[in-house]
Amino acid sequence: MPIKLLNQQVYYENGGNPFKGLHRWFSRKPLSFSRASVLASLLPGSISLEEFEYLLGIYSEGELEFLQKSGLSKEEKEKKIKSAVKLYKTPPGSKRIQKVHDYCEETWGTRTPVVLDAFAGGGSIPFEAARYGLRVYGSDLNPVAVVTMKAAMEYPLRFGPDLQVDIDKWVKWVGDEAKQRLAEFFPSNPSQGGEPEKVQNYLWAHTVQCLSCNSTVPLSPNWWLDRSPGAGKKGQWCAVKPIPNLEEKRVDFELIRGKKGKGTTILYHPDEQFLNPSEQVLGADDDKNVVRSSPSLGGSISEQDARTTAKNDLLEFDPNDYSTISRGVGKCPNCGNVIEDDVIKSQGQAEGLGHQLYAVAYKKGKGSLEFRIPTELDWEGFLNANDFIADSKNRNRWEASSFLPIQEIPSNTHRGPDMYLYGIYHWHQVFNPRQLLTLVTYVEIINEAKAKIQEECETEKAEKIASVQDDFEKVAELEDYYRAKVESISIYLGLVMDRCVDKNSRLTIWDTSAIKVNRASTTHSLNLMWNYPESSGDWRLWLWCAATVSDDYTKLCGYLGIEINLSNIQDIETHAEKTIQIDAASADSLYHISDNSVDAIITDPPYYDAVRYGELSDFFYVWMKANLQDIFPNIFINELTDKDREAISNPGRFRNMGASPEDLANQDYEAKMVLAFGEYYRVLRDDGVMTVQFNHKESGAWDTLAKSLIDAGFEITASWAVSTENPQNLHQAKKNSVSSTVLLVCRKRDPNAQQAWWDDLRPEVANLVESRAPEFEANDITGIDLYLSAFGPALNVFSKQYPILDSSGQEVRPEEAFAEARKAIANYRFRNLVQTETAGFDPLTQWYLLAWDAFKAREFPFDEARQLALAIGGFNVSDLAKTHKLLNSASGTCKLLTPQQRLKKRAFSLNDQEFTCHHLVDGLHAILALYQEEENLQLVRRFLKNTGLVSNDLFMKTLEVAFKVIPETVSEHQVLLNLWLGMDEIKAKVVVEQLEIPFQEEAQLNLFDS
Ligand SMILES: C[S@@+](CC[C@H](N)C(=O)[O-])C[C@H]1O[C@@H](n2cnc3c(N)ncnc32)[C@H](O)[C@@H]1O
Repeated sequence: MPIKLLNQQVYYENGGNPFKGLHRWFSRKPLSFSRASVLASLLPGSISLEEFEYLLGIYSEGELEFLQKSGLSKEEKEKKIKSAVKLYKTPPGSKRIQKVHDYCEETWGTRTPVVLDAFAGGGSIPFEAARYGLRVYGSDLNPVAVVTMKAAMEYPLRFGPDLQVDIDKWVKWVGDEAKQRLAEFFPSNPSQGGEPEKVQNYLWAHTVQCLSCNSTVPLSPNWWLDRSPGAGKKGQWCAVKPIPNLEEKRVDFELIRGKKGKGTTILYHPDEQFLNPSEQVLGADDDKNVVRSSPSLGGSISEQDARTTAKNDLLEFDPNDYSTISRGVGKCPNCGNVIEDDVIKSQGQAEGLGHQLYAVAYKKGKGSLEFRIPTELDWEGFLNANDFIADSKNRNRWEASSFLPIQEIPSNTHRGPDMYLYGIYHWHQVFNPRQLLTLVTYVEIINEAKAKIQEECETEKAEKIASVQDDFEKVAELEDYYRAKVESISIYLGLVMDRCVDKNSRLTIWDTSAIKVNRASTTHSLNLMWNYPESSGDWRLWLWCAATVSDDYTKLCGYLGIEINLSNIQDIETHAEKTIQIDAASADSLYHISDNSVDAIITDPPYYDAVRYGELSDFFYVWMKANLQDIFPNIFINELTDKDREAISNPGRFRNMGASPEDLANQDYEAKMVLAFGEYYRVLRDDGVMTVQFNHKESGAWDTLAKSLIDAGFEITASWAVSTENPQNLHQAKKNSVSSTVLLVCRKRDPNAQQAWWDDLRPEVANLVESRAPEFEANDITGIDLYLSAFGPALNVFSKQYPILDSSGQEVRPEEAFAEARKAIANYRFRNLVQTETAGFDPLTQWYLLAWDAFKAREFPFDEARQLALAIGGFNVSDLAKTHKLLNSASGTCKLLTPQQRLKKRAFSLNDQEFTCHHLVDGLHAILALYQEEENLQLVRRFLKNTGLVSNDLFMKTLEVAFKVIPETVSEHQVLLNLWLGMDEIKAKVVVEQLEIPFQEEAQLNLFDS
C-alpha cells in the first residue's frame, strides 16, 4: 500500500466535491482511500508498488515504464515525475481498467469480480468499485444513504450526462413555482431609485420574557453580522447593537458599521449609523402569539451605553460585549436581570421560545451584501406566513398528504431530550413558521412536478412502445427505463430540497466570517442555535441550493468516466459497461445476494457509538419521505429511520432496563456486528477476501469488532493504517481524536484451525508490533493512532487459530492481544523519546509523558488512561486520581490536572525542605507551579538546587521529554519554554526546538453547549 501517497491524496479531498456535496452523509470515507482499499483487495500480492500506483491512477503508462526501468532511486524518480493527479477527480482510464480486469481474471477467474459493501453510507466504496467496471452491490440500512447513493451512482451510470437537461428543467420549474407561491411572504422594500433591493437572509434571535421587567429579550452570544476579511479591509465590519427600551418592554437595534478597532471592536462614526425604523418588530413565539411594539426610537447612543466612548469623533462598539446569553444563562438588557437557564427552558417548554428579527441581509443589483435593520414590511411577510401556516385549512391539507413533518423526535435519542428542554418535540418545530411554510410549499410543488414528469414519461414511453410493437423484452426494457427516469429526476428534486432543509432551520448558523449560512449538519450533532439565519424562500434558498446540487449530476458522470452505448432501442442510451445495484437492506439480512457469490467485500462498518446515523438523518428523512414515499414505498415505510436494526452502540435505547445502558448498548452492538459478519461470511466465496476499514479511538470498540470478525469465522491476514481525517475537521479539537483508519484484510479462517495457547502467542504479538512500529511512524501515524495501528499486527497473530485459551482453559478476548500491542508501543515510544536507557524513570512519570505523547490533549477517555497505565504497570490506576492527583475523571473522560491544580490538591510541596521527589513528574510540576505563582526564576533556581534536582539527569531528561510531548498550545509548554530560555542550568542539559503558537478563534455557542 502506498501509504504516504494516499495520505496526500486524502488530504486533497478535504475541500468540497460533487460526490460529497450531493447530500450530507456522516463519516464519509475519502474516495482515494476507498479506491486503494478496493484494488488492494482484488489485485494479486505479487504486483509492484509502482504498478499498484499506476493502476490507482497516479502515473501514466510512460511514467510507469520510466519508474520501472531507470536506475534512479524511487524518490528521485518520483521527484522527476511529480505527479499532481487528484485521484478523487480522476476516473481510471480504459487501459488501467483493462489491466485491472486482466489481473482479476488471473486471481478470481472472472474479469469483473462481484464486490459488496453492505454498510455503504454515502457510497465511497461502491463508487470506486463501479469506476473500475466491477459488478457492485452497495447497500445501507438508512434510506437517506440509499437515496444518496442512487443519485450518485445508479442514475449517472444508467442515464449518462443527458439526464442533466431533464433535471435542470424540473429544478427550474419548481423554483419558478416557488417564486410565485411564496412571493407574498417575502416582500421587498420599494426601491427608492436605483436597483431594487433583494432580501437574501433574515437574521433571527430566539427570545424569552424577562421575569423581572417583563421585557421580551432576544438571546444571542454576540451581535456580529459581518466580520469577514473583505469587510475588514474595506473598513466595513458590521453588527447590530441592542438598544434597551424598557418603556416598551423590548430591545431595539441599531446598525453599526465601521473599521476594525482594538481587539474585536468596531470603530464607527455615529452620524453614519442607521437608527431604528419608527416601529420595531419584536417577534412571535412558537404558538404564533405575535408580539408587536409601538413606535419608538432607540435613544441616543451616548445615553444608552456607558461603555461607548468617543475617540477622535469615532465611537467604539464590541459586539461580543453585548451578549444576552452565555452558557445557557440569559441577561435582560433592559433591567440587567439574570435569566436563569431553567427559566429559559421552562418558557420554551410552556409556549416555545419566541423569535425576534434583528437584521436583514440584502443585495442591490450586482452589489455586495448589505445589512439593515428590519422594517414593518419585513415583519408583515413573516406574519402572513404565520397566519397561513396556522390556518387549519392549510394544515389539514398538508397533514392529509403527509407533507408536514409532524413526526415526534424520539425521546430515547441523544438530541431528542435536549430539544425537549426547549419545547421542541416534533421535527416540524425545528423551523420557524415561515421556514416551515417555505419547505412545505417546496414539497407540495415537488409532488406536483412528479405527477407532471410521470405524465411526460408516459407519453414518451407510449410512443416508443408503439415503435417496438410486440417485442416483450423491449417493452419491459422501456417500462423499466421510464420508471427509473421518473425516480431519478424526483430524487434530484428531493436532494435540492434536503439541501434547503439543511440551510434553513433554527439549527443553521450565520457564519459572520464568510457572511453565509452554514448547514445545520456541519457537525455530527444537531444543535438549536440561539440566533439563526433564514433565507428568502421565494428565490434565494431554492436557487442557491439547486445551483450546487443539480449541477453535480454532470460532474458525477464525468467522475464515473461514463461512456455512452446506444441500446438496441432507438434513442435510448445505456451505459451498461459499469453496473451497480443499490439496495436498502440491513447488513444482517442480505436476502438479495446468494451464498458464496461475492468475490470481495470491502466495508466500513459503523464504529460503536461514534455516529448516530439514524438520529441525525431523521432531520432529512422526514422531508425525503414527504417527497419520495410514493416512488419508494418500501424504502420509506417507517415513520422515522430504523434505529432498532442500526448497528451502533446507543445507550439511549437501553435506559431503565435494570442494567447499565452502556453495557447493554455495547452488547447490542456486538450482537449486531456478529450477525452482519456472519452474513458477510455466507455470501463471500470460500477463497474470497474481506477488507474492513476501522477507525475508533476507544479500544473497547476494537475488541468488539475483532471478536465479531473472529467469531464469524474470519482471520486477519494483513493490516494498514492511513490518515483519513483532516485535522481541522476533528470535531473537538481540545479532545484527542483518531485521524487514521486501519484496514484489516480478512479471509475465511481454515475451518480446521486448532485452538492455541495465549502464553505461546503473546511474545509473537509483541515482536510483530515492535517490528511494524517504525513503518507506521514513517507513514506519519503517530500519537494514539500509532497505538491503534498496532492492533492490526496483533490481530494477525491472534486470529489465525481459534479459539485462543489462557492457562486455565478460558477463551481469551482480542483485548488481551491489544494490551500486549499497547505495551509494546509504550516501550517503543518511551525508548524513542528519552533516546537513552529508560531504566530509572518511575512508572507514574512514564505514564504522564506517554499520555501527552499519545493523546496530544489534556482530555481523553478514562479507559484509555487505564489501558496505558496497565501497559506501563507498576502503579494502581485508581491512584492516578486519588493518590497522585494527576487527573480528574468524570463520565468516562479524564483531564490531566495542571501543576497549579495539583499543588492546590497538595500532590507535592513547594517547600524545598518538605519536597520529596518520589516521582519525577512531581519535580516537573513543582518548578512549573513555582514559576507560574511567582514568575521568579531565582526561586526556581533555589528550589532546583536545594532539592538536588539540578544535578539529577533523569529529571532533566523528563523536562526535555515533557517539552517534546506537551503541545505548544498548552500552558505547561509555555512555562517550560520560559524556564529554558531564562535558566542556563536547564539550557545546558535540555535540548529543545521552539515552535510557533497557532492563533485560535473563539467558537460560537449554541443552545446545547450550555
Ligand atoms: C461508517 S459508515 C459508512 C460510511 C461510508 N463508507 C461512506 O464513505 O460514506 C457506516 C454505515 O453503516 C450503516 N448501518 C448501520 N447499521 C446498519 C445495518 N444494520 N445494516 C446496514 N447498514 C447499517 C450506517 O447507516 C452508515 O451509513
